[in-house]
Amino acid sequence: MFGSDAPLLSGDALRERFLALDAFLFAQQKIWREKPFIQQHLLWELDFPELSTWLRARSLADAEACHTQPTTVAAPQPYRAWAQQAAQLTHVGRFASVALNERPVRMSSGIAERKWQQIEAFASAVHGSAGQAFTQAQNWLDWCAGKGHLGRYLAWPDANLECLEFNPDLIGSGQAISHKYLAHAQHTLCDVMSAASTAPLQQANAVVALHACGDLHTHLVRQVGAQQAIALALAPCCYNRTQAEFYQPLSKQGQISKLQLTRDDLGLPLTATVTATARERRLRDQSMAWRLAFDILQRELRGIDDYLPTPSLSAAWFNKPFAQWCRDLAVLKNLAVVPERNWQMLEAQGWQRLAQVRNLELLRGLFRRPLELWLLLDQALFLQEQGFNVELGEFCAIELTPRNLLLLAQRS
Ligand SMILES: C[S@@+](CC[C@H](N)C(=O)[O-])C[C@H]1O[C@@H](n2cnc3c(N)ncnc32)[C@H](O)[C@@H]1O
Repeated sequence: MFGSDAPLLSGDALRERFLALDAFLFAQQKIWREKPFIQQHLLWELDFPELSTWLRARSLADAEACHTQPTTVAAPQPYRAWAQQAAQLTHVGRFASVALNERPVRMSSGIAERKWQQIEAFASAVHGSAGQAFTQAQNWLDWCAGKGHLGRYLAWPDANLECLEFNPDLIGSGQAISHKYLAHAQHTLCDVMSAASTAPLQQANAVVALHACGDLHTHLVRQVGAQQAIALALAPCCYNRTQAEFYQPLSKQGQISKLQLTRDDLGLPLTATVTATARERRLRDQSMAWRLAFDILQRELRGIDDYLPTPSLSAAWFNKPFAQWCRDLAVLKNLAVVPERNWQMLEAQGWQRLAQVRNLELLRGLFRRPLELWLLLDQALFLQEQGFNVELGEFCAIELTPRNLLLLAQRS
């Protein structure tokens, strides 16, 4: 067994950490709510000119080098103080990793290597947890299962498995794979948000959800609180995929928080690029630099010094010469005919803006993980209120997936 030095969050530490994060996020909300991509000047730059000048002078490569670890940047105050606070408040342990019986080699075929490693780490964490509920589970439920790779891994060799998923193709192929490895596996076509998910939840001893988005995981947490399921293992994802405009806290502590999170705020934890390939990063940079250049252009054309949202564009758009791209986008946005101009200079300005934006975003980046942990803690506290023993920590390294926080809840 091995794990990180920091303890997992459980018991009273859940509430203590939640309150500390809540105070931190609330106090600095004016800082992390401002978006360098859409605002050419940020209000906090007036209060902290030295920090602003320092960040704006750095290159795109400088920003890229520390993008995933903004707390390590030696920027002028108050950056360093906030970075230290963010690092302390988000310090959580890694679940102990236990060696499990080797699964059949072919079980991993057709699964991306990184996904398979996430599944192994998730399963290992679940089995290494303090309680007995997972090790003794005979009825597993995989929530938003995709093809059910995680559930199958956990139920192997002889437990029962039910997978809930609303994509019929994934149901079909998942069922075919399960047939090879498990005697009792059922892949059920089901919208988990509907009443049809209630009966499977009542029958399960252990419910697992790996990267269920927004409402799909908060609905699960509420249902598990109300149903008989004995244990839940949840690694959430895409917090901003919600129907409601504002986050609806689940716990009592969350409900009295003064922090009002919009759907847009809920996107902040997802803004780190960790697992993208070099090609994806290049395309992303080009798209952002061109959009920032277009932003300069559209402000001029409209005579309005305000951001104008642009739609997502297919990769083919970026094969066009920059000037043509700008003209076509102007047509799409019903703007005035674009007069001839120095396109090279405009494009260069876009790249320069991108370097500034990325560096200014490092400050926002300090609050990514605190916000994510706040959300998980709200859900953890809710389950604690419902009588569960809850543990919260990381189940794998961030390089494997940035969504590496795992909440384990077991009934006492
Ligand atoms: C990010 S994927 C995760 C899949 C799987 N757990 C994994 O880690 O590979 C989310 C899954 O949720 C499914 N899904 C989305 N909305 C759903 C709903 N309302 N009911 C059931 N499944 C849903 C999607 O089809 C997708 O397979």
